[in-house]
This record gives sequence, structure tokens and C-alpha cells, in this order.
Amino acid sequence: SRYNAMINLRKGEISREIFSDKEIFQEELEKVFTRAWLFVGHESQVPNPGDFFTSRMGAESVILARDKKKKVHVFLNSCRHRGMKVCQYDHGNTTLFTCPYHSWSYTTEGKLFGVPQFKNLYEGCLDKEEWSLIEVPKMEIYKGTVWASWDKDAPDLMTYLGDAKMHLDLALDCRDGREGGSEVLFGVHKWIIPCNWKFAAENFLGDTYHNVSHRSVDLIGIGPSAEAGAKGRRDNELEKAKHLWVNFPAGHGVHSAIMPETWEFLDTYQNDPIVAEYFREAHAKRKERLGAEQHRLVPFVGTIYPNVSFHGNQPRNLCVWHPHGPESTEAWRFFLVDADAPQEVKDFLRSYYMRYSGPAGMTEQDDMENWNYATAGSRGVIAKRYPYNYAQSLGKVEASGPVAGNVSLQVSEENPRQFYRRWRDYMNSADWDTLLGRKDKEPASFAA
Ligand code: FES
Repeated sequence: SRYNAMINLRKGEISREIFSDKEIFQEELEKVFTRAWLFVGHESQVPNPGDFFTSRMGAESVILARDKKKKVHVFLNSCRHRGMKVCQYDHGNTTLFTCPYHSWSYTTEGKLFGVPQFKNLYEGCLDKEEWSLIEVPKMEIYKGTVWASWDKDAPDLMTYLGDAKMHLDLALDCRDGREGGSEVLFGVHKWIIPCNWKFAAENFLGDTYHNVSHRSVDLIGIGPSAEAGAKGRRDNELEKAKHLWVNFPAGHGVHSAIMPETWEFLDTYQNDPIVAEYFREAHAKRKERLGAEQHRLVPFVGTIYPNVSFHGNQPRNLCVWHPHGPESTEAWRFFLVDADAPQEVKDFLRSYYMRYSGPAGMTEQDDMENWNYATAGSRGVIAKRYPYNYAQSLGKVEASGPVAGNVSLQVSEENPRQFYRRWRDYMNSADWDTLLGRKDKEPASFAA
């Protein structure tokens, strides 16, 4: 296929076209974003009946809503009459979604409720039952996070996440090791980057090789404590940890670390005694709850295929790379905190997170610059004749390691290689049966 020629992983080469071509982008929307599980939002954003949060799946607007009976739904934000957005707010509470065009209204269960002049104009020619909002066929909630897929044949979310779940868990769980229990700090950071969404997604697969881009951040130090000084961005103990780059068949990839046995809580919050005490206690409880071994596994970053990235430690967040066009991506960053943390801790983290990430955050500015020019570098007439190099540590993956998945113990581009191998599978496959090799279909090739 066209894509087998573009993704040549035996040689570690990927065509620049997949980062700039309009037709390929359109095909991605159809073959990747209508099939894969996508992160839509967090339950903490819609705690009460009638609450809604307007989100996106692929290039389309969707509504995450909690109905009167507290059930969560994900609807396409598009009126069944002429397609106008039935919800134009970012979030709020309502009993009905009323379309501003001709005023059809829908309940929070998605049912078509009100049609102006129904008796005169529609009696006998419109069955309201058949014209509900379009709802995703697959929706699952995991530790407060809401995921959806437009494909009824997609595997269940737990199968889809596979062993990457353990790393994602570390971002979703409370700092003291309790399961879930996190909430999203309002509001969500949203901004548009002139880049292809895949550059951002692959960066979070564990591209530690780019740390040189953040040299200025290392020099200044933006860690939790100003006193951390040079290299304040990092907990120094992390440098003594065993680092793991792990990828999974579904295309996910993470960078995590196993801390040394001597790992102790490092007091990096001296400026604020309440915050310092909160994290000291959380560290001790986590060790007690999880046991010394599991406690030592800490996450850095990861990407759940295709476009949901996370920071697992500090900062702690989920980031979705919404595709707008081959050269335009809308980033949405959801910052996570323990829901029952004292307000002072939440306030402290809010400003720390903003200093670190987001459009004005120090690390994100560096990254955006790279993705911006990498995208521009993918479109040149001459440039497009030459592929990108993805050969780093080719053949050096250790299939068995201290955690499940394909593990590399050195910096490696095996995670992006697996991501693009899976991307190629989606582009080559007609359906989930082919992607998974179900119902006697030949499975999509995992060959190089
Ligand atoms: Fe919504 Fe006409 S487009 S009522």
C-alpha cells in the first residue's frame, strides 16, 4: 500500500508527507479518529444532573452531558435539522439543549423534545423518536476519565489500553496511591499550535532525547520550589532511577522509571509548609498502600494512541491533541489534582502547572517551537523527497523487562516506531476485525 512505502521501519524511515498532506489528514480523520478510543473529558467536570462540558472527537464537536438520572452521555454537537451546534458554551448546566437556528430542543438524554409549530408543520411527517442527538455507540468511564469511540466494533476500553493502563493509572490515581479520586482543575487550557498532531503525540511517547530543547528551563529552574535552583525542574533522585521506554501493540508508549530502593521523599515544597506536609504524607501512605516495589514505579509521560498524552508525576495532567488540519492542532490540557486535597494545595498546583505547561508554560513553549518548524519542514518541495530518521536504538528493544510491554532500557525511538506501525495498520485496514485479526480476517501486519 501507499502507507507501507511511507512507513519503512526496517530502515527506520518515515515519509515527511504524513505530517503535511491534506488527503492523508482527511483519511486519518476517517480511519483513525472514528475508530480509536478518544478521551472526551472527566466526570468531575459534570458532577450534577444537567451538567455538560463541550469537547471534541477528531475534528468534530461533542457534548459530554450528565442526564437527569445522572447517566453520562457523549453526543455529536450537531442539530439533526441543519447541523447547527446545539450547545455553544464550553460548560454549564441545562435541562435542554436548544438549537439557536430554528429552536429544536433536545433533552440531556439526547431526545428530540421541542419542535416549534410541530402540530402545523410536522404532525405525521416527523417521528421525534427517530431524530435524537447522535450518540457515540461506545462510551466507558475509567477512574473518572470518560472515553468514547464512534466504532461499535471497537474492543472494550480495558482491552484497548492493555498494559499501558498501569502507567496511565499513576496519572489518574491520588498521590497517596488511592485508586482514582482525582479531579480536573477548571478550566482546561486550550490553544492552537501550527503543527501536525502526530508531532505532539510522539513527543509524549518518551522523547527524552529532546531535553536539550529545555536547557533554559533547566538553568532557571521552575520546579515546585524556587529554591530547587538549577535543575529544579526535576527531582534529583529521578536521575538515579532506572528509566524505561515501553510500547504496546495498540500503539501506546510511555516513559516511566523505577526509583532506587533508597528513594525517600524529597522536600521540594519548603516554601509552603501545608503543601510540603501534604506531599510528605502522600508519599508515606503510597509506600504503605502499594508496597515498596510498586511504589518505586513512577511515570513521566505517555501517549495513549492516537492523541491523548499524559504527564504522570508533577505536573500531572492529560493533554489531547485535537486535529484541525494537517498543519493545525488544538491542544487541550486537563490538570489533575487529588479531589480531596486542601484548597491551598490545589491553588499551589494551579500556578505551578501553569508555570510548567500550557501556552505560557516554560517547557511547552520550547516544544511548540520544535513542532511548528518540524511541520513546516515537512511540506517543502525538496524537503519532501527525503524521509525522516526514526532509527534510534533500532534492534535494541528488550522484549521482556521489569514491566509488561516492549521495554527499552535506553533512550529509543522504538515507541514512535510502534506508534507509526499501528498508524499504518489503521490506514491500511477497513475495520476493527482486520485491525485485530478477528472473525477469520488476516490481522493487520505488525511487520516492519
Ligand atoms: Fe437546529 Fe434548524 S438547525 S433547528
